Amino acid sequence: MAILDVELGGLRLANPVMLAAGVLGVSPSSLLRAASNGAGGVVTKSLSVEPREGYPNPVLVEVEGCGFVNAVGLSNPGASCFREELRNYLPFPVPIVGSIFGYKPEDYGRAASILEDSVDAFELNVSCPSVSGAGAEIGRNPEIVGEIVRNAKAATGKPVFVKLSPNVADIVEIGLAAEGAGADGVVAINTVSAMVVDGDFGRPVLAASKGGLSGKPIKAVALRCVYELGNALKVPIIGCGGVFDGKDALEMIASGASAVQVGSAFRYRGLGVFREVVEGLERQLEKMGLRSVKQLVGVARV
Ligand SMILES: Cc1cc2nc3c(=O)[nH]c(=O)nc-3n(C[C@H](O)[C@H](O)[C@H](O)COP(=O)(O)O)c2cc1C
Repeated sequence: MAILDVELGGLRLANPVMLAAGVLGVSPSSLLRAASNGAGGVVTKSLSVEPREGYPNPVLVEVEGCGFVNAVGLSNPGASCFREELRNYLPFPVPIVGSIFGYKPEDYGRAASILEDSVDAFELNVSCPSVSGAGAEIGRNPEIVGEIVRNAKAATGKPVFVKLSPNVADIVEIGLAAEGAGADGVVAINTVSAMVVDGDFGRPVLAASKGGLSGKPIKAVALRCVYELGNALKVPIIGCGGVFDGKDALEMIASGASAVQVGSAFRYRGLGVFREVVEGLERQLEKMGLRSVKQLVGVARV
């Protein structure tokens, strides 16, 4: 049997398949369901210091039968409220990564302080494509990303990952800025900026007009981003985007990721998806004669 456990900048997971931020909603009970169904770690919905309402419906539309465009608008009850609810679920069976966002660098430090005792690591969301002021604008600027990382690192002793946007000219520049400021890893990628228009009425389908594409259609983009980051960064990369099965996970890890996150696939495969991806990856490793996930990281690099 291949060794599946991984270490990500100080965070240990029993297997490299994590729940991606936001896809299962905001409640700790849904994180627990992912954990009970084989996820090696779970990421919370992105949380801010203050509650945020988000966009009116519709916020999610399926595209091409294998993906979604969403513009949820980072709705969340606020970090303190989430922490209170999470208390009822601790100790948690797998590591929890707290996804946080803000409107200025200091907000990340404040949100991290609130959650410091409740989570095992942080994921800094600097990459939501659909929210003005808190989304891709800040994630496109390497200086601001560096400042955000320094603020978060000053507030926590836990590992800090930065979730990167593919909607930038050079993802490596942003990844290097995060690493240079002390990030313990990066997550690639958040959703790809996108739009859906109703073919009968010629109007945008989402209330926010534009949103972020996820699922199968973005896997090739995610693989390219992970590959480029893997050639440039020393910190671990967590691959995210279109992972539906063990082969997808293998492709992501071979491209340079040390672990993967699963999001949209849950909506097609249900909660069983986490165990399916773990077992499928294990089978693929054995087929390749590899004894551990670690041996697979970056083998696609030439
Ligand atoms: C409905 C929905 C909500 C999401 N909410 C968040 C969020 O709160 N924070 C975040 O960083 N990413 C969020 N994402 C992006 C996912 O975490 C992930 O990066 C993206 O969906 C690509 O992975 P996938 O193809 O496996 O879905 C969301 C995606 C969807 C579909």
